[in-house]
Amino acid sequence: MSKKLLEVNDLKVNFKTYAGIVQAVRGVSFDLHEGETLAIVGESGSGKSVTSNALMKLIPQPPGIYAGGEILFDGKDLLPLTEKEMSKVRGNDIAMIFQDPMTALNPTMRVGYQITEVILKHKKVSKQEAKERAIELLRQVGIPMPERRFRQYPHEFSGGMRQRVVIAIALAADPKLLIADEPTTALDVTIQAQILELMKEIQKERNTAIIFITHDLGVVANIADRVAVMYAGQIVEYGTVNEIFYNPRHPYTWGLLGSMPDLKNDSQEELRTIPGSPPNLLDPPVGDAFAPRNEYALAIDYEKEPPMFKVSDTHYAKTWLLHPSAPKIEIPDAIQKRIEGYLKEAETRGK
Ligand SMILES: Nc1ncnc2c1ncn2[C@@H]1O[C@H](COP(=O)(O)OP(=O)(O)OP(=O)(O)O)[C@@H](O)[C@H]1O
Ligand SMILES: [Mg+2]
Repeated sequence: MSKKLLEVNDLKVNFKTYAGIVQAVRGVSFDLHEGETLAIVGESGSGKSVTSNALMKLIPQPPGIYAGGEILFDGKDLLPLTEKEMSKVRGNDIAMIFQDPMTALNPTMRVGYQITEVILKHKKVSKQEAKERAIELLRQVGIPMPERRFRQYPHEFSGGMRQRVVIAIALAADPKLLIADEPTTALDVTIQAQILELMKEIQKERNTAIIFITHDLGVVANIADRVAVMYAGQIVEYGTVNEIFYNPRHPYTWGLLGSMPDLKNDSQEELRTIPGSPPNLLDPPVGDAFAPRNEYALAIDYEKEPPMFKVSDTHYAKTWLLHPSAPKIEIPDAIQKRIEGYLKEAETRGK
C-alpha cells in the first residue's frame, strides 16, 4: 500500500456575511495516498471549491473562518501554519489548477518567465538550469516547439494550450499533490480528453496524488480511483470508483448518476435532474439535509442527522436507508440502466 499523503478530519469552513454565518463546509473527512486520484463531485454550491481552497489555505479571512478540524499533510496539520509557512507548502508540496487558465497566468509576462520563476523560488538551481527545466516541462505537457513557446505571452496560446501551460507551472516545483478544480469545463470535449490524458500520464510518471473536482461524473469514471460525493457542505457518499458506479447507496448519488447525459442519444433525451434545490447553508436543516429532495425520505430524516454507514471497508454512505431496520430500497431501474449504458460507452470510448 502506498503512503498516506493527506488526511482531512472533520474540516469546517464558515463565511461571515451580512445575512449571517454561511456553513459552507460542515465536517468533511477523507484521506488520500500517494499517486492516487480522488474525485470530488456534487452540484453547484455543495462546497467542492471551498474544500479544495481550504486545503491550500486559500480561503480569504475575513469573510472566511476555518471553524474546525485538521488537514494533515505528510502527518503535519496545515491549519495552524502561518501565511509564510503556507507559501512554502503551496507550489512545493501542493499545487492547484483552476478552471480558467487566465486567472493563473500573468498576461503581461512571457510564459517561460512564469515557469522559471516558480522553479527558482522552490528549487536550488541556476537561471540557466531553470530555463532548461521549464522548456522540458513545456515539452512534457505536450506543447510543440517549446523553445519558441517559452518566449511567448499567454494570449498567443489557445485555451487548451494555455491550460497545459498552467499544468506546467503547477508541476514546476514537483508537488506531491495536485488539486484540479474543474480544469477542463471551459474547454471543448476533445481538448478536455487530451488534458485528462495528460494528467493521467503525469501521475503515472511522478506518482502525484490528484484531487479532481468536477460535476461531470463521466470524467470521474475515467480518471478517479476514489470518489467523494458532496451535498450541502458534507460528504454523503465515499467509495472506490467501482463502488460509486456499480453499487451507489445514497439517493443523492443516484440522482447525480441519473443526470449524466445519455451518450447514446447524444443529449437529445432530456436530462433527469434532481428535483428541488439544496438547503440554505445560513441555516442548515435539522436531520438529513437531503431529506426534502429525497423521494425515499424516512420520518427520522427530519429529526436526526444520519451517520456515515459502512458499506464496505472502502465505502460509506450518510443515509438512514442503510440502517438495519430501514425499508430495503434498491437503486431505481431507470438509473441502473443509465449507469450501465454509460459505463459501456465509456469503455468503448477508452479503447
Ligand atoms: N466568499 C464567500 N462568502 C459567502 N459564501 C461563500 C463564499 N464563498 C463560497 N460561499 C458559499 O459556500 C458554499 C460552497 O461554495 P463552493 O464554491 O465550494 O461550491 P462548489 O461546490 O464549488 O460549486 P460550483 O460547482 O458552482 O463550483 C456556497 O453556498 C457558496 O455560496
Ligand atoms: Mg466550485
